[in-house]
Amino acid sequence: MTDLPSPNQNPLRLRAAEAIAECRLIATMTEEPGRTTRRFLTPPVAEVHAHLQARMQALGMSATVDAVGNLRGLWQPAGASGKRLILGSHIDTVPDAGAFDGVLGVVLALEWVRLAQELESPLLIEVIAFSEEEGVRYGVPFLGSHAVAGTFDYTLLANVDAAGIRMDDAIRAFGLDPSEIPDAQLGDDLLGFVEIHIEQGPTLEAEGLPLAVVEGIAGQSRFNLRFTGHANHAGTTPMHLRRDALAAAAEWITAVETAARDADDLVATVGKISAAPNAANVIPGVVDLTLDVRHMSNPIRASHVQLFTREAASIAHRRGVQVEWAQKLEEPTVPMDSALSSDLAAAVEAAGFPVRKMPSGAGHDAMIMATRMPAAMLFLRSPGGISHHPDEAVLEQDVEAALRVGGFFLQRLEKQTRS
Ligand code: HGY
Ligand code: MN
Ligand code: MN
Repeated sequence: MTDLPSPNQNPLRLRAAEAIAECRLIATMTEEPGRTTRRFLTPPVAEVHAHLQARMQALGMSATVDAVGNLRGLWQPAGASGKRLILGSHIDTVPDAGAFDGVLGVVLALEWVRLAQELESPLLIEVIAFSEEEGVRYGVPFLGSHAVAGTFDYTLLANVDAAGIRMDDAIRAFGLDPSEIPDAQLGDDLLGFVEIHIEQGPTLEAEGLPLAVVEGIAGQSRFNLRFTGHANHAGTTPMHLRRDALAAAAEWITAVETAARDADDLVATVGKISAAPNAANVIPGVVDLTLDVRHMSNPIRASHVQLFTREAASIAHRRGVQVEWAQKLEEPTVPMDSALSSDLAAAVEAAGFPVRKMPSGAGHDAMIMATRMPAAMLFLRSPGGISHHPDEAVLEQDVEAALRVGGFFLQRLEKQTRS
C-alpha cells in the first residue's frame, strides 16, 4: 500500500486513493461472505444504496431510488436550469467479481460532481447507480438502464430467478412498486450520458496508456441451448449405442471455439453449463448451456450465430440427440456520440494524456442510454487485463487521471452550454 500523499501535496491523488478504497469497501457488501457477488435487488444492494446515499447527501445532492432499484442522485446548483448531464454506471456484479466493474463509475461520477462544485459549475448533474447491468439474476442485462431510457420490457416481470422468485416480486420484496417503473424514465432535458469504466481487457496496459475514449460498444447475441439425448447406464451401454448429450455439447463447444479463433475480433463464450442427471455413473441425458457472441459488426456476428446454429444441428443429428435454442439477448453494436466523445477526448488531451480511441468488447449501460441521448465512455486501464474476477484492479494514477479529465470535461461542457 503506497503512503497516501499529504493533502497539500496532491489532492487529486489522495482522492484517487480514497475512491479506490471506497470501491473496495463497497465490494465487501456481498451476498457471499469472502467473495463479491451482488445480484439485482439482493440485500447487499440496500447496503450499497445506504452508503452512496450518504455520499450524495454529503455532496448536497438529493437521492432517490426508482422502481427498478436505480439509485438516482441529483446535483442542482443554485440557479441551475435546462439540460442535465447524466453520469453513472452499475452496482450489480457477476459472481465472485472484482471491486471496480461498474462501481468505479459511480464513485468517480460523485467525484466529478465534487469537481463541478469546486469549479462552481452551473451544470445540472444526475448520477445514476444502475441496479442491473450484468443480467445474472434474471438472465437479462440492462434492466436499470432500460427503465431509465424508457425501453423496459414489462414482460420480463414474470421471469423467475434460480429460486423461483418472480422479478416483480423481487422488486416488491425490496420495498419498491413495479407499477411505478414507467416513472423511472428520464425526460428530454438531457445534455448526454458519460460512463467511466475500467477497460476490462488488455489493450491499455499493453500500450502503457492510462485512459481511452470509447468509439463504440460491441453488439452481443446471447442464447440458451439444450442438448437432449438419452440418459443410460455408464457401465453397460456400449459407446456406439449412446446418445450422450454432454459429449454432443462438448463437440459443439470445441467447434464454436475453433470458428471464433479463426474469425478476426469475434468472441464466443459458453459461460454456463449443467448436465442432468449429473451423476458420475449415468450418461448425461440433458445438457443446458449458454452462448454469448460478440463482434463490432452486426452482420459478422449474425453470420457466425448462423454458423454455430448449423453446427449444433449437424452434430446433434449425427449423434442422435436433439438441440433447442432460445435467444436471450440481441443488442446491436452501438457507436458512441461523436460530439460528446470529442469533448471527452479534448479533455483527455487538455489534462495532458495521450488520446486513445477504442471499441468496447464489454457491454455497458451506455449502449442503452445511447438510444435516448448522446453517450460517451471513458476507459481506465485494467492491470493484467483482468475483469469479472477478484484480481480486477485499477491504478491510483489512472484514477487521478480520470479526475483531471473530469475537471476539463466539465469546464468544456459548461462553455458549450453557455454559448
Ligand atoms: O458482459 C458484459 O459485457 C458486461 O460486463 N456486463
Ligand atoms: Mn461486467
Ligand atoms: Mn460493467
